[in-house]
Amino acid sequence: MSFDLARVTSELATGEIIWSLHYEPVCDSTQDLARAAAVSGAAPGWTVTTDLQRRGRGRHGRSWTAPAGQALLFSTVLRPPVDVLPLMPLLAAVTVAGGVELSTGAAPELKWPNDVLLNGKKLAGILLERPPGSSVILGVGLNVNQSAAELSEGATSLAIELGHSVSREGLLAAILNDLGNAYERADREGVDWILPGWRSRTSMLGKPVTFRRNGMLLRGLAEDIGLDGALLVRTSDGTRVSVVAGDVELVRLE
Ligand code: BTN
Repeated sequence: MSFDLARVTSELATGEIIWSLHYEPVCDSTQDLARAAAVSGAAPGWTVTTDLQRRGRGRHGRSWTAPAGQALLFSTVLRPPVDVLPLMPLLAAVTVAGGVELSTGAAPELKWPNDVLLNGKKLAGILLERPPGSSVILGVGLNVNQSAAELSEGATSLAIELGHSVSREGLLAAILNDLGNAYERADREGVDWILPGWRSRTSMLGKPVTFRRNGMLLRGLAEDIGLDGALLVRTSDGTRVSVVAGDVELVRLE
């Protein structure tokens, strides 16, 4: 079913971010459309969604695929204040999970840096890119109505977990509203609430993790998140390592 943009617009709250919604039935990647818009001066809040991406991309150069019309795929132009910038991966994950919960009642868990899980399986992926200039492009791929056969191993969809199909429009409105609220809260209160917000949605702290850095597999205990958003891991020799999202290709919970 094609996407009902008017329904999303009618459910959006107006606040600090003025949302400007766009829809392309098919595109290579919504990230490319949002990057092009940002480079030509689009204001924060410019958002594009699609039914089908021909060349959807994930983190670390991986591809991101979803059957037509079954997933929520969108990219948004943002211009976060400097203090929010390093915490954007965590903030984005918190707002995607918050939007899913508001819209469906399902309470996703977060896996550092910004995977959104439901019942231990990947529900959504988040990609942050920086085109030239001061914008950040937030890309979200959320598995909504895919069947198990349409997903890769280790992934799930809302329809599978909830047992009924879910409106992509309602999800997009809820996620953007949560993002808008987060922006306003950061302006009012600063960024101190972002880490507690992320911690309250993860169960990975205190658990053993494996991560790959510079081609080497390392093991340790995920102790906490640093003020800069890094994952703090205590390795087996007692050293505390600060793991930065861009540095690692894999973080596996054991
Ligand atoms: C990940 O690797 O977990 C991140 C996946 C991000 C996918 C989304 S889908 C919408 C946007 N357009 C893209 O090409 N990628 C992001």
